[in-house]
Amino acid sequence: MCGIFGYLGPRQASTILLDGLRRLEYRGYDSTGIAVKNGAIGIHKKVGKVADLMTVLPSEISGNVGIAHTRWATHGGVTDANAHPHESANGKVVIVHNGIIENARMLRTSLSVQGVELQSETDSEVLAHIIERELSVDNHPENAVRRTLHQIRGTWGICVLFLEHDSIVCARNGSPLIIGQGENEMFVSSDPHALTPHTQRVVFLEDGEIATLTAHSMSLSTLKGKNFAANITVLEQEWGDSELGDYPHFMIKEIYEQADALRHCISGRLDRVDGNGRLGGLKLEPRKLSSVPHVRLLGCGTAYNAAEIGQILIEGLARIPAVAHIASEFRHNDPVINPNALHFAITQSGETADTLSAVKEIQLKGGSVYGVVNVVGSSIARECGKGVYIHSGPEQAVASTKAFSNMVAALTMFALQIGRSRSISREKGKEIIKELQQVPHLIEEYLEHQGPISEAVELIKEAKSVLFLGRGISAPVAKEGALKLMEIAYIPCLAYPAGEMKHGPIALLEEGSPVVFIAPNDHVKTKTISAIHECRARGAKIILIHEQGDDIAVEGDVSIPVPRVHSLLSPLLTVIPTQLIAYHTALALDCNVDRPRNLAKSVTVE
Ligand code: AGP
Repeated sequence: MCGIFGYLGPRQASTILLDGLRRLEYRGYDSTGIAVKNGAIGIHKKVGKVADLMTVLPSEISGNVGIAHTRWATHGGVTDANAHPHESANGKVVIVHNGIIENARMLRTSLSVQGVELQSETDSEVLAHIIERELSVDNHPENAVRRTLHQIRGTWGICVLFLEHDSIVCARNGSPLIIGQGENEMFVSSDPHALTPHTQRVVFLEDGEIATLTAHSMSLSTLKGKNFAANITVLEQEWGDSELGDYPHFMIKEIYEQADALRHCISGRLDRVDGNGRLGGLKLEPRKLSSVPHVRLLGCGTAYNAAEIGQILIEGLARIPAVAHIASEFRHNDPVINPNALHFAITQSGETADTLSAVKEIQLKGGSVYGVVNVVGSSIARECGKGVYIHSGPEQAVASTKAFSNMVAALTMFALQIGRSRSISREKGKEIIKELQQVPHLIEEYLEHQGPISEAVELIKEAKSVLFLGRGISAPVAKEGALKLMEIAYIPCLAYPAGEMKHGPIALLEEGSPVVFIAPNDHVKTKTISAIHECRARGAKIILIHEQGDDIAVEGDVSIPVPRVHSLLSPLLTVIPTQLIAYHTALALDCNVDRPRNLAKSVTVE
């Protein structure tokens, strides 16, 4: 979604801003722009990719201070005029903004009445005009921004450039902003990973905070005007390889990275002697774990699918109720929160607005929330303050793959930990650990022998729709497979627990309809076979993901074997063919695999 990058220092700002924009690209966007100050403030913006912006830039842009933006349209269409930066009427104030101004309509009307000609349809533009007006009061940039924000309702991460001042003022409320401190230079970005090539020393702005930056200084204060000292965090030097290398797309690279990512996730977190999980970041003692009444898991999209697997693992191993919730629905249903229960917010980006709102709702009602997060220092990780980092490394393809696997692995380790504090034996714990430690190797083994993925793609690529079915722990895997194919190949996909198929979706089947079954060798397999027969009887073509060596293989028109593993861990293997099917189908249909239309990597609006 929208991204911000800003720079002040001795170097040419435009080069650094454009590089910053490229590092924000993976988040998904539809237009870009930069503003650089050099006497006047030059603004250049364009619909499309950073490469499209480059085509309209002058060959040289001088200036050492500037701000840049990637826009993902919310208010107003995808046009050059709606792209950021936006300038005030006299051109002396230029802003970039992430978030949503809820009272924008009223503010636009009031500005129009005062004679301001708005240049765009966006909510953001009002900020530039109001700041210009407030600046005329005392010519104090920070105070002008502060007074403006008191008139705004909504969410913001903003950076403001002033023609007559050498500073950038930025502020945050619900939309992340991180300041990077270099040697005699200062950076600001909505994404910490855009900063790490320049500096590891960062300050995460919190909601309600304002910063005034120069190349040599940062001064921090609250919206109410109280100054405070910077709390510098040193980011990890290397978060992982975020370059494509020899891979054609990030998605396939990330599919292949799953084995190593999983190794990172479980490393040091399993106690082989006691057969226990060791998730230190949870700060949960066995005594607390043994008295937890229930567990709730929240996430959106892929993270929700991982939550559903977590629900089954926790109930199965700890014998306490566990429920997965779609985070975007959660707070709107006025949930009852038990302060003794455990809540998990599951998220790759750590910035998903719906999940963050759910976290705040739980906290407001006295509950405690633990993060299961990939991006270190992200808003949800910091809001929760405790939890599990899943250590997938940077995930840049919009379609989540390795983060899903590590969410499942993290929840498996938690299920083990809470299970050991309550019901399962040391021996059972040791057995699961032994198998979990084998999984990275089994993933590599599968990726070397992927089975007839291309035959599955042939059955799917021209289909009107695709049905994904699985039972028990494979039902969420079916959902995840459907989500992946739908989001990158634009084929309508339905996913159901296989037993539900005959209660509705069966009506869709006709001669040749592709149905993907996830059917590992577990206690519900025979039931799944019945569903396969019911589909086949209606002319469906069966794509079957199953355990290697299992007789069930004969049931598929296309059968894709994955290595055998403990049935509770089967999602870590059965999901991979579904990722490959989505990837290769999208390629066959000439779709943009890494940047599917309309989607963003991190969804920072509700
Ligand atoms: C996954 O392939 C999707 N792009 C999407 O569903 C994603 O999982 C969802 O938006 C949640 O993101 P998060 O994990 O960053 O919170």
